[in-house]
Amino acid sequence: MKVFNFIVDIQRFVEEKHNLGLKVGFVPTMGALHDGHLSLINRAKKDNDIVVSSVFVNPIQFNNPTDLEKYPRTPERDIEKLEQAGCDAVFMPSVDEMYPEKVEDHYDFGDLERVMEGACRPGHFNGVAIVVRKLFEIVNPDRAYFGEKDFQQLAIIKKMVLNLNMNLEIVPCPIIRENDGLAMSSRNVRLNETERAIAPQIYATLNDAASHKKEMTPAELRQYALDKFATIKEFDVEYVEITDEINLKSIENWNECEHARIFVALQLGPVRLIDNVRIY
Ligand code: PAF
Repeated sequence: MKVFNFIVDIQRFVEEKHNLGLKVGFVPTMGALHDGHLSLINRAKKDNDIVVSSVFVNPIQFNNPTDLEKYPRTPERDIEKLEQAGCDAVFMPSVDEMYPEKVEDHYDFGDLERVMEGACRPGHFNGVAIVVRKLFEIVNPDRAYFGEKDFQQLAIIKKMVLNLNMNLEIVPCPIIRENDGLAMSSRNVRLNETERAIAPQIYATLNDAASHKKEMTPAELRQYALDKFATIKEFDVEYVEITDEINLKSIENWNECEHARIFVALQLGPVRLIDNVRIY
């Protein structure tokens, strides 16, 4: 696997592959790779001739300086894992390489960014949009792969690609979970033993709530989930929302949308965790 730190080098690599008529799949990451990321690499390998990943902890998408400082960084291990997974190249730029100057771009994703993560983490999606657009322009992939754990991020990126007429396909990939149901996340390594033992209750509670669709309205189901989360004193819930999974608008009736999803964000010890499940 090739490791590139400079934009010109990854650009040349991809251009050569495109000139040979090969399709390039792209998996952008912030490193500290786990099986969730590797499932994206596997999917990209199935769909494309060449797979490129990136490892870049994007400072401008962190609204909390401690979160940025504590974000796990394991570059050597990431390279090993990507190599084992059969990735062809990884782009690992420095902050100066990505941002030689302060970036002033401002994106407005309308209602999509005014709820949930957008409302709780001001500037977060602007930072994501800036880096993802830059990465797409640098790597120029045919397809890019994103996990559904960051469901709102996925919706924002799809919207950006549509609005800017970017010529690539965004491929959503299912959440990968530990055996006990905890959604895989780079942040999970920061949970202590007690917190890690409690963390699977997030998924369990979402599933429990979702199973009550037939006898509850969306508002009742949301309150049910909030009450359940409140019984676990270690959870400090930031939001629980039930929305249409296309436009992420809250719903009042189940028949308002084809598929509804329940979303949660909560603090557990030092770690902020998010998760979501579709309500069938
Ligand atoms: O989901 C992530 O890991 C990041 O938000 C992304 C898409 C790599 C942009 O920094």
